[in-house]
Amino acid sequence: MTRPRTGEELKACCAAAYSSDIVALLLGDSYHPGGTALTRRLAEALALAPGARVLDVASGRGTTALLLADAYRAQIDGVDYSAANTSLAQGAAQAAGLAESTRFTTGDAEQLPYPAGIFDAVVCECALCTFPDKAGAAAEFARVLKPGGRVGITDVTVDPARLPSEFTGLAARIACIADAQPLDVYADTLAAAGLRTVRTERHDEAMLRMIDQIEARLKLLRMTAPAQLTAAGVDLDTAPKVLGAARTAVADGVLGYALLTAQKSP
Ligand SMILES: C[S@@+](CC[C@H](N)C(=O)[O-])C[C@H]1O[C@@H](n2cnc3c(N)ncnc32)[C@H](O)[C@@H]1O
Repeated sequence: MTRPRTGEELKACCAAAYSSDIVALLLGDSYHPGGTALTRRLAEALALAPGARVLDVASGRGTTALLLADAYRAQIDGVDYSAANTSLAQGAAQAAGLAESTRFTTGDAEQLPYPAGIFDAVVCECALCTFPDKAGAAAEFARVLKPGGRVGITDVTVDPARLPSEFTGLAARIACIADAQPLDVYADTLAAAGLRTVRTERHDEAMLRMIDQIEARLKLLRMTAPAQLTAAGVDLDTAPKVLGAARTAVADGVLGYALLTAQKSP
């Protein structure tokens, strides 16, 4: 893989990785630790009311957006850098009978394709960690929110000074680790955009469960579809070591997952 140099190349690389079938096979529908259970917790923390206009930034294949539309009766816009994911999310909305309450668009979190002040809430799951310009994305969250609107993120957290070297390269960046931040740095980034943190929660055990799930699915795919794994660039010899190192990093408090909600000034 050619090493991307610019922010645009990094975003395209991340979007391409999260459009691939192998990622769907390894992660399932929800591309974040904690899955839909954590998305529900985020929705409760945001106190989403029926009819609320919600933007899901980096909406992937639409799992978060469809859950919020279905269970919370919210009106959802989803935006993702990957056109393939946008199409898949639109198809999933049709199949679920939720096309009326969801709309998916291809676009960039750092330049959101929406007017200012139209959303009651912005959610962003497991994606702020990958954006090259996190301050720019946070400013965009604030811009599109109504006064008093809320933002809810769930994201990977790291202690950068203690991050093992196997988690500092491009693959680790795409795996949401290499450019992840400590929770208080996410809060500071949002604060600089005028979004005051209201609640933070640690969900590190969700990261461990995701590592377990990837390990189990890799074992299965190794037996059933080894050629597909190799074609997707999964190194079957190093993968178990990397997953083991990730488990140790969680146990040592270096790597984790967290929920944060913040509010724009009313
Ligand atoms: C780990 S996945 C999370 C997807 C979804 N939020 C979920 O939790 O299931 C990261 C997503 O971020 C998207 N993405 C990466 N950079 C982006 C950007 N600058 N703007 C919008 N989406 C982006 C990728 O295409 C991918 O769908």
